[in-house]
Amino acid sequence: MRGLEALGRSRAWVRLGGLAEGDAGGRGGESAGGGDTSAERPEGRAGQLGVEVDAGQNTVGQGGSDASHGGLSFAQEVGAGTRGVAAFSHWPATRTGRDTFRPVMSTGAPDRRIWINGDLVPWERATVHLLSHSLQRGSLVFDYLSVHETPRGAALFRLPEHVDRFIESCRLVELPLELGREALCAAAVEAVRANPGCHSVKINAYLPSIEVDVVPQDPRVSVAVAAYDAREDIIERNPGSFRRPETLRLWIEREVRNRRADLVPPQAKVAANYVAPMLAKWRARREGYDDIVLVDENGFVAEGPTTNIFLVDADGGLRTPALERVLWGVTRATVLELAKHRGLAVTETGVRPDELREAREAFSTATTAGVWPIVSIDGDPVGDGTPGPVTLGLRDHFERITSGEDAAFLHWLTFVDEA
Ligand SMILES: Cc1ncc(COP(=O)(O)O)c(C=O)c1O
Repeated sequence: MRGLEALGRSRAWVRLGGLAEGDAGGRGGESAGGGDTSAERPEGRAGQLGVEVDAGQNTVGQGGSDASHGGLSFAQEVGAGTRGVAAFSHWPATRTGRDTFRPVMSTGAPDRRIWINGDLVPWERATVHLLSHSLQRGSLVFDYLSVHETPRGAALFRLPEHVDRFIESCRLVELPLELGREALCAAAVEAVRANPGCHSVKINAYLPSIEVDVVPQDPRVSVAVAAYDAREDIIERNPGSFRRPETLRLWIEREVRNRRADLVPPQAKVAANYVAPMLAKWRARREGYDDIVLVDENGFVAEGPTTNIFLVDADGGLRTPALERVLWGVTRATVLELAKHRGLAVTETGVRPDELREAREAFSTATTAGVWPIVSIDGDPVGDGTPGPVTLGLRDHFERITSGEDAAFLHWLTFVDEA
């Protein structure tokens, strides 16, 4: 408290735990448990928190009538004027309200609703507390899948496979997920129906509770399913630029190893697993590369931060690292099946960095990018430095399948208007 007093501003302490159910006044069921919309809320837990608010003056650090964001004023966003919802203004007066409470999206929130524990919650209210276990410990598990426009309407690509991987990720990090396959698939379909024009779906399992230990005292898992258009709803609303090139200049990262299986299995799509790749990719981006591939503990090629890696060998066959070393990429599995369907030989085995560098062709696979040609590795061209025929053949076929144009693979699509 002494440090806060030094800021020289009037303030008072409120105890959120004293709120009656429903006092959060239309904030999408916000609780100190962190955006958990379930009616069942941990009683009294927030009361131990002691959240500070500015007494009376304003709730956003400075000038209570700060700019509005996406139709909501700051005051509305942080809950000022709604009974009993505190603003967390701990910053010196020299900071603006905007700094203190950076809005969820700097150019306004998209008109989307996110499925949270069975409710459809406006995008800007789909929040968790800063101190939540998932944020503090990186324990959030997620999966990401794509939605395509087809002659039969919007369709999810390989929904059951993504949901199975999501359930497996939760099992691997021991998140006690209550929902099963059917309920999760139904939630994804509902989220897509509620958000016309979406092209991406992210399913999340997280611990919204505020915890003091690495093992949560309150292990109840929330599930959220967001369906959105990445470009319109996220990229164009963020400051700075975002580039997803048609072809990749790849760097083989030999120092930072892929996820260590003895720490967290590489098959778990858990937030904590992405920090090492983030560091390595950041470094490579500063050097002018588009993406990286990490090696495993034995120096063999593993995978990219969010991609699996393939090479085309001298005989025109495909090779990709074995499943024990990498995330079970759904696009990876799809490409392996598709390659066999097209009569290509496929091998899942160790790939040395030099073999990748000397390959006739190479490509990455990911839900975000499908089949993604790699045109250079460590600054040297792959093949003649342009996407090769095997890669392009697979990419085009993959795109025909996801858009519902290949009758032989319609079973990989879940048509939301028919589900
Ligand atoms: C570590 C990792 N590898 C590979 C992939 C590609 O998987 P998918 O094809 O299912 O998108 C991802 C996806 O995000 C990933 O996070």
